[in-house]
Order: sequence, then C-alpha cells, then structure tokens
Amino acid sequence: MKHIPHHVAIVMDGNGRWATKRFLPRVAGHKKGVDALRACVRHCGDIGVGVLTVFAFSSENWNRPADEVSGLMELLAVALAREVPKLQAEGVRIHFVGDRARLSEKVRNGLAQAEALTATNTRLVFNICFNYGGRWDIAQAAAKLAAQGREITEEALAGAMALAHVPDPDLVIRTGGEQRISNFLLWQAAYSELYFTDKLWPEFDAAAIDAAIADYSRRERRFGRTSEQVAPKPSSRKVA
Ligand code: IPE
Ligand code: IPE
Ligand code: MG
Repeated sequence: MKHIPHHVAIVMDGNGRWATKRFLPRVAGHKKGVDALRACVRHCGDIGVGVLTVFAFSSENWNRPADEVSGLMELLAVALAREVPKLQAEGVRIHFVGDRARLSEKVRNGLAQAEALTATNTRLVFNICFNYGGRWDIAQAAAKLAAQGREITEEALAGAMALAHVPDPDLVIRTGGEQRISNFLLWQAAYSELYFTDKLWPEFDAAAIDAAIADYSRRERRFGRTSEQVAPKPSSRKVA
C-alpha cells in the first residue's frame, strides 16, 4: 500500500501549450484543464487524499492578454455553476483562496455560494487558489496582525494566512515541465516534497496522480533531522 499524502497541492501548468500544439486558442486548453481538474478532484477523493489545493490563477496572470484573462474569469463562473452541485453531492468542501477584491461581482457571489453550500462537507477539502500569490498571502497575514496590534511570530503569521484551515502541503506537483514555484505557496511549502512532470495539465490523469504519489512514497522526509533519526528500525520495517 502506498503512503497517501494528506495534502496535495498542484500548479496546473501547460494548458496554453496543450492548445497551441493542436492549433486551438489558448482558452480551449483552459477548458480542457477544467475537465482534468474535475477528474483529479474525484480521484483524490477516491484514494483518500484529505486536502487538494490547486493554483488556478496567479496574481501575475493579470498580465496576460485581455481576452485570455476574461476567458479565464468566464470559465471560473461557468465551472462553478456546473460543477458545484456535483461536488456537493460528492462531499467536497470548497474554499476559495486569494484576493477577491479585483474579481467581478458575479464571480465573487459564485465563490461565496459554493463555500456556503459545501461548508459542512468532510470527504475532501478543495482549495482553489484564484488571484492568489504567495507574497500577497504573507503580506496580508502580516497586515492583519499589525492591524490587531499583535506580535508577528511564526505561529501568528501561519494562523493569519489564507490556508490556515489546513496543514501544510505534503506534496506539491507542477505539471508542464517548468521547475519553479511561480509565487505559489511560499510559506506553506517550506517542507513539502516537490514533484515536477513534463505532462501538460490537460493530460494529467488518474494514472499520473498515482505516479506522483508513488514517487512521493519513496521520499524520506527528514525535517532537518538525520536519516538515522527518522528511518524506521529494521525490526519494524515492513517486508515488501
Ligand atoms: C496554466 O496553463 C493555467 C494558468 C496559468 C491559468 P498556462 O496557460 O500557463 O499554459 P502554458 O504554460 O502557456 O502552456
Ligand atoms: C503558474 O503558471 C500559475 C498557475 C498555474 C495558475 P504560469 O504559467 O502563470 O507560471 P509562469 O509565469 O510560467 O512562471
Ligand atoms: Mg504556464
């Protein structure tokens, strides 16, 4: 039996290249990306992942061409309307993580409704990072503490961050071949295992998730300790 990470976070990258390879507009890649995400949520629930966090739109993605940005906003609104009732039926709790101020009223209302509708679900926590940036999160947490006149400690900052409702990710996956963080979970990924794959996000299926988790299962997480300190004693080691 593989060791299933409790919290999996994913940088869903490569939609544009997937579309361009097929002579399609980039937004067609994002649409296909929503289908891949739908399958990913279902598979994570099925195999016992407790928390899934995905990077859907970064603070920096506003710099893309206007038609792609509006296409992504529209896609979020459409996907929420279509998928939330099904996610609700599957016991998925939705959290929106990011700066809502710049989003349209329609999108803001859709997000608030999705969160309210699914608030008591417990099978899988699903965090959608939209208009999110790791630096924004650290800065907004610090600003919150400052406004309350509180001391800035690691614990206080962690508690004021947008992902304070879940433990730090165990595994961070990035599809699309780039090996960088792109302002994703800067604070929370301090001790996450990182997994990079050349697969483009629309091609990232259940088998690809299993492959990432199999790779994760072979890692030794030391958190600053030595291998001898964290490795199980030979007597307690499972025979394969
Ligand atoms: C990731 O795919 C989705 C978003 C950033 C919204 P990209 O759109 O970045 O795809 P590539 O990297 O251009 O292939
Ligand atoms: C990261 O992908 C953001 C999301 C997946 C939402 P990008 O494609 O925007 O990242 P960079 O700009 O290539 O680093
Ligand atoms: Mg990209």
